[in-house]
Amino acid sequence: MGFTRRAAVAVVGVAALLTASACGGSDSDGGTGSKNVEVFTWWADGGEKAGLDGLVGVFGTACAGQTFQNGAVAGGAGANAKSVLASRLQQGDPPDTFQAHAGAELLDYINAGQIEDISADYDAWGLKQAFPAGLIGNLTVDGKIYSVPANIHRANVVWSNKKVLAGAGITADPKDLTEFFADLDKLKAKGVKAPLALGKDWTQLMLFESVLISDLGPEKFTGLWQGKTDWNDAGVTKAIADFQRLQTYSNTDRDALDWTDAEKLVMDGKAGYQLMGDWEAADLDAKGFKDYGYATFPGNGTTFQWLADSFVLPKGAKNPDGTKCWLKTVGSADGQKAFNTTKGSIPARTDANPADYPKYQQSAMADWKSATQVPSCAHGSACSQGWQQAANSALGAFSTNHDAAALQKALAAAAQQFAGK
Ligand code: GAL
Repeated sequence: MGFTRRAAVAVVGVAALLTASACGGSDSDGGTGSKNVEVFTWWADGGEKAGLDGLVGVFGTACAGQTFQNGAVAGGAGANAKSVLASRLQQGDPPDTFQAHAGAELLDYINAGQIEDISADYDAWGLKQAFPAGLIGNLTVDGKIYSVPANIHRANVVWSNKKVLAGAGITADPKDLTEFFADLDKLKAKGVKAPLALGKDWTQLMLFESVLISDLGPEKFTGLWQGKTDWNDAGVTKAIADFQRLQTYSNTDRDALDWTDAEKLVMDGKAGYQLMGDWEAADLDAKGFKDYGYATFPGNGTTFQWLADSFVLPKGAKNPDGTKCWLKTVGSADGQKAFNTTKGSIPARTDANPADYPKYQQSAMADWKSATQVPSCAHGSACSQGWQQAANSALGAFSTNHDAAALQKALAAAAQQFAGK
C-alpha cells in the first residue's frame, strides 16, 4: 500500500518551511559545519533508553567523527515530545533527526513539507531489498521514501504478573473477552487492587483499540481508519460497553499514570494484567522483573497490531551528513540488532536471525509472518496526529463522565473530520 499526498498542506507546515528557508537551512550540508547529531526521541528511561543506547553504540563505531547528542523528551508515546517537536519545527529549529511512526503520522510531516525525500539513500544503502514491501509502502508518498524504520512493535499484548494470577487460580491465558472478565473477577475476589492496570488517555486508547479488534474483527477494525467502517456501528457500541466494563477493574488513579506507572502496579503485585505494546518486555527486563507472562489480547485471535518507529531527515537539519550516517546505522543489520534485542521490538529488516533475540521477540517474529496485520491509532500507523489527539481527548473525558453515547458521538465526529485527510 502506498500513500498519495493529501491535498491540504497544514498551515503549521507552511510556516515551518518558510522559517527554515529564511534561516538558510539547505539540503546538502546545512552550512553549519556541525558534527553533532541531535537525535530527538521520547526514549529516556528503562528498556526504551536501553534500545537507544544500543543504536548509539553502533553509531559511535560506524560514524566516527560524529557525536551523538541526546534530545530525548521523556513521556510515554511522545506525550510531551510531540508538542516540543511541533513547536521546534514551527520555529525552524529542527533536531538533526526525530522519531516518527510509519504510516499516517509520518504523512503529517511529509504533507507539512517538514522532512526530506531520502529515496536516493535507500538505493545507495540497499534498503529497498532489506525491508518488507508493505512497510516500505507505509513510508512512501508519491514514489518517494521519507524515513528509515528501526523496528516493528506489537501493540495488542497483555502482560501479567504470573504470581498474582496463580494466587487467584488463573492458569491459562483468557481466549476471549468473556474469559477475560471471568479472570478479572477472580482477581477482584482475591482483593487484588487493580486486576487490570491502566494509565492515562493514550494507554486507554490502546486498550479500547484492542477491544475494538475483538468486537469488530481485524478487517472492520482497519476499516474504521479508512472511512470504510461506520463509527456508529453496533460493534463499536458493544466495544464501548466492554471497554467501560474493563475500566471498572482498573486503578482509579488511571488518568494520572503513564504506562510505566501502570507497569509498576503489575511488578509490585498490585495488578494482574496490563495491555501494553511490547516495549514492556524490554522495560520489564531492564528493571529486572522476571516473573511476567504475555499473551495476545483476549479475542484478538491471530491479529498483530503493528507500529514502526522510523527516523527522518528534517528540512533545515544542521548536520545532514551526520544525520545520514545515523539513518544508515538505523537501517543496518548491526544497528537493528543492537536496537531491537533491547527494545522489545522485532527488526524491520527481513534478514535478521531469530536466534539472536530474546524469547519474547522470537515469538513476535514468528507471529509477524503469519498474523493478520492491523495498524494502531495510538501509535500513528492508523491515524494522523490530529485524529489521535481527538481520540485521546474523547477517551480522557469518558474516563470521568462514563458517557458511552457521548464517546461514540465524539469518535464518529473525529472520523468525519480526519478520515482520508
Ligand atoms: C510508542 C513508540 C514505542 C514506545 C512507546 C512508549 O509510540 O513507538 O517505541 O516508545 O511509544 O513510549
